[in-house]
Amino acid sequence: MQITAALVTLLAATASAGVAPRQGGGTVNQSVIPKDFGVKAGDGKDKVQVGSCSTPANKLIPCYCPPAPDSPEFLQKLTKALSDGFILSKEQVLLPITLDKFNDASDTSVPTQKLRATAMIQVMQNFNLTTQGVGCPGASVPILGAMQQSGKIGGDTSGASNLG
Ligand SMILES: *[C@@H]1O[C@H](CO)[C@@H](O)[C@H](O)[C@H]1NC(C)=O
Ligand SMILES: *[C@@H]1O[C@H](CO)[C@@H](O)[C@H](O)[C@H]1NC(C)=O
Repeated sequence: MQITAALVTLLAATASAGVAPRQGGGTVNQSVIPKDFGVKAGDGKDKVQVGSCSTPANKLIPCYCPPAPDSPEFLQKLTKALSDGFILSKEQVLLPITLDKFNDASDTSVPTQKLRATAMIQVMQNFNLTTQGVGCPGASVPILGAMQQSGKIGGDTSGASNLG
């Protein structure tokens, strides 16, 4: 409920600013997002380095990473990126999949799952929306890394733990 309200507010703000919503102005379909990213924010705190958090593979990550799969902030940023087709600017981060295609839960093909994972990782890596690359590193979302490589949700995340 909270999420829906926040997204409605966001979309209302966009509409009142006179920006035509693209692709029907929909919101991201949570049913195609994995329920677990493999790491929770705060995991591994002080384990590798005092004051830092870390992944099961002992990679240092910021303690706010990653946002939960149902985090309103993550869902809003993902919706906006997929609607715009880019993050920050077209010259910086282009998304490889549209909101409509991302949301079509009937499409669970390997190529589409890979594109969904890429889009979510792009949002993570630029999560702060300040400077390109300021956000949550790929290592903080091993489930998405594995999904990007295999096109499947669930399974081996060991290869993905090497993501930067
Ligand atoms: C989201 O996925 C569900 C199936 O899990 C589907 O019924 C629904 O229509 C989808 N919503 C959108 C907006 O595509
Ligand atoms: C990035 O965003 C997170 C979550 O919104 C925040 O906790 C963190 O302080 C921000 N970090 C930087 C470097 O802006």
